[in-house]
Amino acid sequence: MNGHRSVILWFTGLSGAGKSTIAHAVEAQLHQQGCRTYVLDGDNIRHGLSKDLGFEDADRKENIRRIAEVAKLMLDAGSITLTAFISPFRLERELARRAVADGDFIEIYCKCDLRVCEQRDVKGLYQKARLGEIAHFTGISSPYESPETPEIVIDTNQMSIEECSAHILNHLKIMGILP
Ligand code: PPS
Repeated sequence: MNGHRSVILWFTGLSGAGKSTIAHAVEAQLHQQGCRTYVLDGDNIRHGLSKDLGFEDADRKENIRRIAEVAKLMLDAGSITLTAFISPFRLERELARRAVADGDFIEIYCKCDLRVCEQRDVKGLYQKARLGEIAHFTGISSPYESPETPEIVIDTNQMSIEECSAHILNHLKIMGILP
């Protein structure tokens, strides 16, 4: 036994909403508590398993399908897996949820106004998208379907990374996932 339940923490939100940063902050806290964890994000998936995929709808759907399969394997292996992808479509997130048992999939919506993400423009991609240099950019020329009933919502417009991380950990305790 790990001393904790294995679950999938599925972060979703616009580019620049803070998914990966917050997932890593939560992971660090979980790790300190002795949990077995792993973060799947663009750095380890888009450059490897999904490196043949781009950003058209069909490719994003396939990307999310692969990530859901990997997360399911990691769930079986007993880890807390944190996935940090835009995952813009409700149906694909729902399919990922349905692939595992009830309660094992926790959707975390990193809620942030497009305006704020665009102002942050950490990687300069929004500007390129506005100039038409990047096609199918989420929020600009490709849709984002926000979650209707996520288990957790964090307002990354307003809250610091530490506050978001604490809020998520608190929820995990309330939900009985952490002791
Ligand atoms: S998806 O929709 O879930 O398959 O996307 P994901 O695998 O999370 O990849 C999103 C990151 O790729 C960069 N990027 C783009 N994002 C959105 N639209 C387009 N066209 C695009 N091209 C490249 C971008 O840096 C995203 O990173 P994050 O971490 O989300 O900011």
